[in-house]
Amino acid sequence: MKIGVIGGTGDMGRGLCVRLALRHELLIGSRSLERASATSFNLNNYARGFYQSTMKGCIKGVLNEDAVKEAEVVIVSLPPAVSAEYLRGFSSLFTPEKVVISTVVPMTRKKRLFYWTPLEGEALGDLRTRSAAEVLQDVVKPACVVSGFQTVPASYLYNIDSVLNIDVLLAGDDELSLAKVGSLVRDIPNLRPLRVGPLENSKFIESITPLLLNVAVLNDLRDPSIRVVPWMPTIEPE
Ligand SMILES: NC(=O)c1ccc[n+]([C@@H]2O[C@H](COP(=O)([O-])OP(=O)(O)OC[C@H]3O[C@@H](n4cnc5c(N)ncnc54)[C@H](OP(=O)(O)O)[C@@H]3O)[C@@H](O)[C@H]2O)c1
Repeated sequence: MKIGVIGGTGDMGRGLCVRLALRHELLIGSRSLERASATSFNLNNYARGFYQSTMKGCIKGVLNEDAVKEAEVVIVSLPPAVSAEYLRGFSSLFTPEKVVISTVVPMTRKKRLFYWTPLEGEALGDLRTRSAAEVLQDVVKPACVVSGFQTVPASYLYNIDSVLNIDVLLAGDDELSLAKVGSLVRDIPNLRPLRVGPLENSKFIESITPLLLNVAVLNDLRDPSIRVVPWMPTIEPE
C-alpha cells in the first residue's frame, strides 16, 4: 500500500514510517522537500539495518501535497493547532477513495498537567465539543477519516525492536476504511486494533492521551499506553 504521512518528519510520523515500511511504501511529507529527503534517507537506513532482507517497503521524502496526491492512505501527523487550517490549503486533493488517519491529539499543558482541548470551542475538556478527527473530516471530505494511534507513544514506534502488547483504538464511520486501517495496525507486531464506534467517539480516544500523560507525570512512569483487559465474571450456578 502507498501511505503518505503529512507532517512525517516529526516524532510520530517517523515512528509510524519505520514500523509500516516493513511492508508498505511510505511517503514522508514535509513543507520542505530537503527536510523530507534527509529524513527519509536516515529512516531508510535505520529500517533496512534492522529489518534487513525482510523489508518489503521503502521510505521516500516528498512535499506534503505530493504525499496526499500519490497515497491511498494519508496519515495526518501535524501539530493540532495548525492541522485543520494547513490541510484546508490542499483539501481538493482528498478524493473519495482515499482513507485519512487522524493521529491528532488536541491538548494543552497547564503547569505540570495536560488537558484535552478541543480545536473548536473555548472550554478545556468539554466533551460536548467535536473531536479533532471530526473537524478534519469536514476538511478532507469526500475522503473518510479514521481516528487512531493517539495512545501509542512515538518513542515506542520508533524503537523498532521494542515489543509492547498495546491496543490501538479506532473510531470511524466507514466500514471499508476501518477495515483498511485495522489491517495496517495489525502489520505492526503486537499492536491490536480495537474499534470504539463512530467518528464522534474520537473525542474519547483523544482525551485518553492527556490522561495517560498525567498518569506519567504523577506516578513517574515513562510513555504509558493502554491495553484493554477482558474480565470474565464468575458464572452463577442455575
Ligand atoms: N509524539 C507522540 O508521541 C504522539 C503520540 C500520539 C499522537 N501524536 C499526535 O501526532 C501528531 C504529530 O505529533 P509530533 O509529536 O510528531 O508533532 P511535531 O513534531 O510537533 O510536528 C510534526 C511535523 O509537523 C510539521 N509542522 C510543524 N509546524 C507546522 C505548521 N505550522 N504547518 C504545517 N506543518 C507543520 C513539521 O514538519 P515540517 O517542518 O517538515 O513540515 C513537523 O515535523 C500530533 O497531532 C500529536 O498529537 C503524537
